[in-house]
Amino acid sequence: MKKIAPSILAADFANLEKEIKAVSKAGADLIHVDVMDGHFVPNITIGAPVVASLKKVSTIPLDVHLMIDKPEKFIDDFLNAGSDFLTIHIESTGQAEMILKKIQTKAKSGLSLKPKTKINELEPYLKWVDLVLVMTVEPGFGGQSFMANQVEKIAWLVDYRNKHHLNYEIEVDGGVNSETRKYLNSADILVSGSYIFKNDYKKNIDSLR
Ligand code: DX5
Ligand code: ZN
Repeated sequence: MKKIAPSILAADFANLEKEIKAVSKAGADLIHVDVMDGHFVPNITIGAPVVASLKKVSTIPLDVHLMIDKPEKFIDDFLNAGSDFLTIHIESTGQAEMILKKIQTKAKSGLSLKPKTKINELEPYLKWVDLVLVMTVEPGFGGQSFMANQVEKIAWLVDYRNKHHLNYEIEVDGGVNSETRKYLNSADILVSGSYIFKNDYKKNIDSLR
């Protein structure tokens, strides 16, 4: 069954504990945490201290999505904070192999790519990833429109996984809602922010699953 990962970027930041508990009770499988540095993407969100605080109150795993330049500088901080999944962007570093192997010593490793990046750029690294995160919006902000032209990346990843006997999970992030859900039957994990948090969390989560 598909896993649902609400993105707390769309939650009430003054009440994160309450929000996490509410989506967990509504059936969420993971909490998706968007970390932005104002360099890799034109927006700033939260850092490792907040992840550590969320870890203390969350009963479900934290799925941390790093949208930061040179993630190698901060990997230890995010691992020590208790990230269960830790995802980096291929465009953000020249050291993806080293970072992914390091993440795998403590957590599940994830690799993501921006819409303009070709999927085969991930190929050399797929043997060290537990998760591939396909961005279906330009990273940086919640509430944008789903880019249907990214869906072919999911099919490529399914095919590659079968051919090479790998077992990474495929996650999709950006503009996921009950309308765009129809494109995502082959994905394993759906991230959704503005759609889930806009009203009835349980109804929205159920509609995506
Ligand atoms: C965008 C983030 C997403 C975002 C999704 O950079 O990675 O996780 O919060 O939000 P919605 O579901 O509103 O597109
Ligand atoms: Zn994200």
